[in-house]
Amino acid sequence: MSDTWERFRRQAEDLENLGSAIKLANWDQEVMMPAKGGTGRARALATLQAIAHEKLTDPALGEVLDELASESSLDRAQAASIRIMKKEYIRATKVPQSLVRELAELEAKAFQAWAKARPADDFSILEPYLTKMLALKKEQADAIGWDGERYDALLDEFEPEMKAGEVETMFKDLEVALRPVVGQILDAAGAPPEFVFRTFDASKQKSFSDWLVRELHFDTDGGRLDTSPHPFTMPIGSGDVRQTTKLIENELMMSIYATIHETGHALYEQHLPEELAGLPAGQVPSLGMHESQSRLWENQVGRSRAFCRHLFPKLREIFPSETADLNEETFYRGANHPRRSLIRVTADELTYNLHVALRFELELAMFRDELDVADLPTAWNEAMERWVGVQPPTDADGVMQDMHWSMGALGYFPTYTLGTIYAAAFYEKATSELGSLDAELSEGNVSRLLEWLDTNVYSQAYLYPAKELGEKVLGQPLSAAPLINYLKDKYGELYGVAFD
Ligand code: CO
Repeated sequence: MSDTWERFRRQAEDLENLGSAIKLANWDQEVMMPAKGGTGRARALATLQAIAHEKLTDPALGEVLDELASESSLDRAQAASIRIMKKEYIRATKVPQSLVRELAELEAKAFQAWAKARPADDFSILEPYLTKMLALKKEQADAIGWDGERYDALLDEFEPEMKAGEVETMFKDLEVALRPVVGQILDAAGAPPEFVFRTFDASKQKSFSDWLVRELHFDTDGGRLDTSPHPFTMPIGSGDVRQTTKLIENELMMSIYATIHETGHALYEQHLPEELAGLPAGQVPSLGMHESQSRLWENQVGRSRAFCRHLFPKLREIFPSETADLNEETFYRGANHPRRSLIRVTADELTYNLHVALRFELELAMFRDELDVADLPTAWNEAMERWVGVQPPTDADGVMQDMHWSMGALGYFPTYTLGTIYAAAFYEKATSELGSLDAELSEGNVSRLLEWLDTNVYSQAYLYPAKELGEKVLGQPLSAAPLINYLKDKYGELYGVAFD
């Protein structure tokens, strides 16, 4: 058996190392590459991806996986690695090559169509591509196979083991609890304070972010913080975790909270157990679980009154004149001001999940053959009115605002809110075990929280599917209740609104 395991380990490591090169090329494309480098880079990436696909679908890998599947002497990390790779192998080999090619070509074309249709505010440019995308994605789901419903096969790529029906139940609970509450809070909150739109020099904002990542224990010998148009975190390989933030001169909160969000992702990657590096079991188990960490650090920690008390003096030091008329409390209120936003990516903590829930609702309706792509703009506007209480004046700022669908990322959206639900549940559990963290957070001390997350989440890597890991951490199945209670308590106190 040790021979077979060693063979598997080498195959898994080859895939991991190729993935490393692909991620580095992608990071460079977003952060450093000169404008003219696009075509050459696309070709280099296509070659690397073709090699990776060949290795993943190699029948020799299938044989090794079959041999090891009946092996009883595997330890937990080995057994988990086999289970994870087997699933990837099946997903990669069950879909016919012709469909894989067709999808790749369509994704490139649909993305170009989106890039043209959005500025022109013309959904008819995008519509035929989305119609085709939906048809091919249904074919892909059928090729992979599903038990409950088609959508499960797509969700499974991003959130293994989670079912559409379970997500639907949790989102329904959120909707029922939050919809009446959100309206009251938004009315009470009124217009945002003027200082959040003040000009703050971008290079000084970067200095603030450089200080911030160190305060949160991001290891700068094992990672970097750069800037990019869309903030993201990319684990290149062992000891190299890249994160980016976004600097806009008159949107101070953007860089602060993008930095904290991405640091949450980066801390997870930096704390994965070294002994599992290169093995499938050594990764983060799902997008939702990854997002649980970015959201927990961004919201439960970063937007807390306690942590704002720690942030403000440093902000005052870097921006003395811009913050002369502010104090810790005004900063805290500015960092949490909710509003009826049209756009998901700039939505606040309170309304963000409503934006996600409406996307999930529409995706599900399309996969259940209850909604045609042609009717998507109308359905979108109707859902926005119902969920967030605003009607987008254009499709550009409505149904076409996200690139996900044109890139074929269907089944992806719900992981954002799953992460937010996990974050609230984990934080509630952590503080029930550790007691209130407010005193230490107000001094910028995050050690006890980090240690708790390390023990309960980071050190577990992908030894269990995310859903099982979540249940182990929480001692019960995930529910939306902790998030609902957290939002009601926080915003009720902020704006003096009482809920039953
Ligand atoms: Co994120």
